[in-house]
Amino acid sequence: MHIRIFENREVASAYAAALLEQTVIHQPHPVLGLATGETPLPLYRRLAEFHRQGLSFSHVTTFNLDEYVGLPATARESYHAFMEQHLFQFLDIPSSHRHIPNGLAADLLAECRRYDHLLQEHRIDLQLLGIGRNGHIGFNEPGETLSANTHVMSLSKSTRDANARFFETPDAVPQKAITIGLNAILESRHILLMAFGPDKADAIAGALSGEISTALPASLLETHPNVTWVLDREAARLLPESIGR
Ligand code: PGA
Repeated sequence: MHIRIFENREVASAYAAALLEQTVIHQPHPVLGLATGETPLPLYRRLAEFHRQGLSFSHVTTFNLDEYVGLPATARESYHAFMEQHLFQFLDIPSSHRHIPNGLAADLLAECRRYDHLLQEHRIDLQLLGIGRNGHIGFNEPGETLSANTHVMSLSKSTRDANARFFETPDAVPQKAITIGLNAILESRHILLMAFGPDKADAIAGALSGEISTALPASLLETHPNVTWVLDREAARLLPESIGR
């Protein structure tokens, strides 16, 4: 496990972008796990810049972590639209290489199985993760149990409140999402978790406390041999002084 603490999210994202660039350059068929939300935006801007400067992503396959249930891909708040707006329109990844769960599938269970099947065929080389204020990864919310496979998750109040800023009204935040499970995340060769800002400090301190609990899903990352935690000072504020500062 590597913990890197940076002055601010821009510098942290430059570091994350350089790690991701190495995967894109050195793997013949890189498989990237992608995340949505505010955290990866500075990283995605840098990837777009890399592409403008000549880095090709045409050999890359991507898997997004999750998608809301009930939103069409064309809805502004969907993660399909998010990825198009913030990343895909700027890169040359063929559309057939880009995978996001279909939150409008008539049979959601079958959609989860379809996604797991694809993930089994494409082991993720580098999985990007954000972290929820409640410690969720993807939409694997805290609970008594966690799911191994792709599944439909009822979103917690904390998550719906946090994501309300992306919707016109808080009530418009969907109640459910499809998310990949802990298996696919923990099977990834390398995990890159980014967390910025004071709202993430509690979740980061809990995840790195050394105790593993389904009440804080990100704590399960401690069982993975190759996780890089990319933090800004505010998100790292509650970590022991001995870590990284
Ligand atoms: P955020 O969300 O990047 O918008 O803070 C992260 C998450 O909920 O996983």
